[in-house]
Amino acid sequence: MFAQIFIVFALANTIRSIPKKTCNRLLINNTWYDREIILSNFGRPYNLNIHKSSNILFFSYSLHDNLADVDFQMAFINLNTKEHDVVAGIRGGCTVAIDQSNDVIYFGGSDGIYKYNMLTRLADDYKEKGKNIWSLYFRENLFYISYPDQKLYIDIDGKFVKVREFENFEVDSFHVMPNHDIYFANKSGFYLFDSSKLLVETINELIGVRQIVEDNNGLLYVCTNVGIIMHSGDEFVNVIDIKGIYGLAFDKENSFILSDEKNILRLTPSSKGCAYDDFYW
Ligand SMILES: *[C@@H]1O[C@H](CO)[C@@H](O)[C@H](O)[C@H]1NC(C)=O
Ligand SMILES: *[C@@H]1O[C@H](CO)[C@@H](O)[C@H](O)[C@H]1NC(C)=O
Repeated sequence: MFAQIFIVFALANTIRSIPKKTCNRLLINNTWYDREIILSNFGRPYNLNIHKSSNILFFSYSLHDNLADVDFQMAFINLNTKEHDVVAGIRGGCTVAIDQSNDVIYFGGSDGIYKYNMLTRLADDYKEKGKNIWSLYFRENLFYISYPDQKLYIDIDGKFVKVREFENFEVDSFHVMPNHDIYFANKSGFYLFDSSKLLVETINELIGVRQIVEDNNGLLYVCTNVGIIMHSGDEFVNVIDIKGIYGLAFDKENSFILSDEKNILRLTPSSKGCAYDDFYW
């Protein structure tokens, strides 16, 4: 009996003294962040978008790992309660846009645009039935990008028309700034459309853009295939140097919400750090 207790005690001691090889924090611009997995086992969550007043995150994910047979679906998670579910009724649901001031949530899929009914939690047909929607975006107006021709449309007085300035090239991701400058990306690179000069400036033709998003303080972040970059002064600087981030959003508290191959994570500032060789993704 005595020997057994001794062994257990010795074992517990050994475990406690093994140096921790990993640390669940991440360093971003000299600030440590705690890394919390808030949802796992969702295939490649893309297009993260948070309805700020309810703190509900909407996103798309892949139903199959077999790339030849990819099918998308929309889901949500309440970031306060962690309650989550799929959004029923959207064929090939792959994109979400939110009109934050009017609490209207739009979804797009392979059969047009839908509007979310927060009471029934169903998506109802809205517009462009029969059209294949690649991406939706809301700022003052609702925009969509068609698939597979990747053209940008804007809703003007209830009718979608092609955006003339963007008619001659493809658009894959799109973001309108408060001053109406437009950041966009396509298979060639990442660009800025200067709305006062009506000119396109090249920002970077070496990165693949996955999501362009502003945080709650109006700072612009871009989620790319090589990590997350941020607009600072006249340039973009690396903030998270990690490949394999699929989407980015900011919650009500302005915490980073990120997705990787299978998980959705939240990063919140921490007073504690990790040893240099300790932290990992
Ligand atoms: C990094 O932090 C410094 C000091 O807080 C701040 O001035 C700077 O804008 C930050 N840069 C980035 C890229 O976050
Ligand atoms: C992407 O946009 C740039 C800038 O407008 C344009 O020069 C380029 O041809 C576009 N690429 C595609 C594939 O449309």
